Amino acid sequence: MEKNRETFGSRFAVIMAMAGSAIGLGNIWRFPYMAGEYGGAAFIIVYIVASLVLAMPIFFAESVIGRRSGSGTFGAMEKLAPGTRWKWLGFLTVLSPIIILSYYSVVGGWSVEYLFKSFDFAGMTEGDVTGFFGKFISSVQMPILAHTAFLLLVAGVVLGGVRKGIEQFTKITMPILFVLIVIIAVYGLSLPGSGKGVEYLVRPDFSKLTPSTVTAAMGQAFFSLSLGVGTILTYASYMKKDENILASGLGTAFFDLFFAILAGFAVMPAVFAAGIAPGAGPGIVFETLPFIFNKMGTASPLLSTGISFLFFFTILAAALTSAISMMEVGVAYLTEEKGMRRRTAVLLITLFAWVVGILCSLSFGPLSGVRILGNGIFDFLDKLCSNWLLPLGGLLFTIFVGWKMKPSDVYDEFTNGGTLKANRAVFKTVLLLIRFVAPAGIIAVFVSLLV
Ligand code: TRP
Repeated sequence: MEKNRETFGSRFAVIMAMAGSAIGLGNIWRFPYMAGEYGGAAFIIVYIVASLVLAMPIFFAESVIGRRSGSGTFGAMEKLAPGTRWKWLGFLTVLSPIIILSYYSVVGGWSVEYLFKSFDFAGMTEGDVTGFFGKFISSVQMPILAHTAFLLLVAGVVLGGVRKGIEQFTKITMPILFVLIVIIAVYGLSLPGSGKGVEYLVRPDFSKLTPSTVTAAMGQAFFSLSLGVGTILTYASYMKKDENILASGLGTAFFDLFFAILAGFAVMPAVFAAGIAPGAGPGIVFETLPFIFNKMGTASPLLSTGISFLFFFTILAAALTSAISMMEVGVAYLTEEKGMRRRTAVLLITLFAWVVGILCSLSFGPLSGVRILGNGIFDFLDKLCSNWLLPLGGLLFTIFVGWKMKPSDVYDEFTNGGTLKANRAVFKTVLLLIRFVAPAGIIAVFVSLLV
């Protein structure tokens, strides 16, 4: 089984697949709405710091575990720490991405709907454009249908396997998405009133910083880099032995951060130009971008429709590559540990995510009265995962690599047996971050939340 385990074809493919997992709705949908909800520039600064000192060490820790063991999370714990309680970390990391997949695919469904809606934006009135989202998500059938369609797409690609399915797909769509976001950002910046949005993104107001801002920023960093649940671990297990863990980690993080900031600039200026409140919540991208496309439509309806369609198509692709990586964690577990066939594993996970996703979708409509600790179902699951489960998983990964694994093994994996010079040079610092800084930081955030 070991021998014919698939691997990614090249360094470019590794970064593209990892970036494909990292870059998704987290950057384009979640980041702008979090930044808007938690006060703009100050949030962004904390988010960047959290990405560097908390998230990166975990990225490296997961990469080391994944490639060292050559298996998914659960199998990795069995191999590197057989017969220990570390296997529970395996369970945690199989469960959380499947929960995330459930509500993620609801938002994925929104982009499916908007793909088709692209043909209408240019011709709608301004009020209809910004008001459409609220009507849409509170309805019953359409969002559930769209969620189902999205999930089926994910299942389809995951069935195709690593090389054929995931790799080919990500390589094509990521560059297109990048170009489109730049076009939209430039257009958004040209709208009257957009200057306030730029100011909101670059002028920090630190008086707004509270423990919940820090938690949200940390959660966003984890969510955006797909950390804490073994996604990166599983992908790293598909990495060849001569790949560079440091380089692919930094490459992925760079693209991910870049995309988030770009998305911020594509959305926030237009939010102000459209007179939408920056703290408007999860729908903000879906309210704002149609406004941009509507405005573009006054110049050229065809161009506006074209850009909108391409945009939602590539967002959909970005969301798919991320969702695929969530499903793949569970599939790796069920096939490798439980001896299930790939098809059966995909079916089981899809069913689970479908049912939970329906509940999440309904929580914007008929089930909006259902409150768990003060949140609707969708928000509750998102907060549970992003603010608690991902950091918890990340914390355990750093403890595992920093304190359980032999430092010489970690060194060996991080530097490819001492052959990579730059990796050797930064190893001490990275180990310090993995052992002390990241765990202490995460624990501090947990404590500040509980107090
Ligand atoms: N990072 C992805 C995004 O930004 C989402 C994602 C994929 C994810 N895999 C994950 C989030 C695992 C948490 C855990 O859209």
